[in-house]
Amino acid sequence: MNYEDVLKKLDPVITKAGELIMAYQTKDKKIEYKDQVNLITAADRESEIFIYSEILRLFPDDSILAEEGHQKQGTSGYTWVIDPVDGTTSFAHGFPFFCISAGLLNDQSNEPVLGLIYAPMLNEKFTASKNGGAFLNGKPIHVSDVKTMSKALIGTGFPYNRRNIMDRLMRRLSNFLHEVHDIRRTGSAALDISYVACGRLDAYYEEGLQPWDVCAAAIVLKEAGGFISKFNGDKFDLFLPETAASNSSIHDELLSLLKT
Ligand code: IPD
Ligand code: CA
Ligand code: CA
Repeated sequence: MNYEDVLKKLDPVITKAGELIMAYQTKDKKIEYKDQVNLITAADRESEIFIYSEILRLFPDDSILAEEGHQKQGTSGYTWVIDPVDGTTSFAHGFPFFCISAGLLNDQSNEPVLGLIYAPMLNEKFTASKNGGAFLNGKPIHVSDVKTMSKALIGTGFPYNRRNIMDRLMRRLSNFLHEVHDIRRTGSAALDISYVACGRLDAYYEEGLQPWDVCAAAIVLKEAGGFISKFNGDKFDLFLPETAASNSSIHDELLSLLKT
């Protein structure tokens, strides 16, 4: 598979999906609650249906796994993992840190091989493919060279089940607040990890992410020189809910602060 060609075909689809969701900034977003804190809007639904049908048309042999329920089994050994709006809460409030995230997974190796993350309100597009480098709006990106936690700006997220894991969440947050320079929370895991990839953040962690939050960002990070693992340092797995991502240099320190 030529990943460059695949990215070229995917790019206009994700750009168009960005236009679709931006149009909702000036119309009724039809916000519904999936539960006490988890939102869905008309933009999530419309973006997903559009991306799903375009991928079906462009890559008919691939499997598809999308957050809002569109799934399809293909024969190629590759799966598109789609988040039609990552950062829906940010989106619903007009807070600009939301994006569309499309990653391609090699089913056999369970590794993301290509990713595109587009933040339409910020006009930023992160792209990467296996051994092809990582880019922001077409320019190569690289992780930071920060070497200690005391100098690090860290991203994190608070998962939707946060009320059930509050003690653990607070213990971890407290570990970090004692040691790091500072912490940011954008509300989009895909953007947070992409920001580690381009050096705006030095590390990121979250418990409870789903494959569509991380698939595309994991390859962007890897191609930019970063490292991603489970909290105990074991090999990262999209389908397991622990994400520790860093610029590589501070990964050991990140893991030790994640111990609660
Ligand atoms: C959420 C965002 C958020 C993270 C949550 C995710 P959604 O995705 O990535 O940053 O903290 O855990 O579920 O629901 O906005 O697509
Ligand atoms: Ca998401
Ligand atoms: Ca989403």
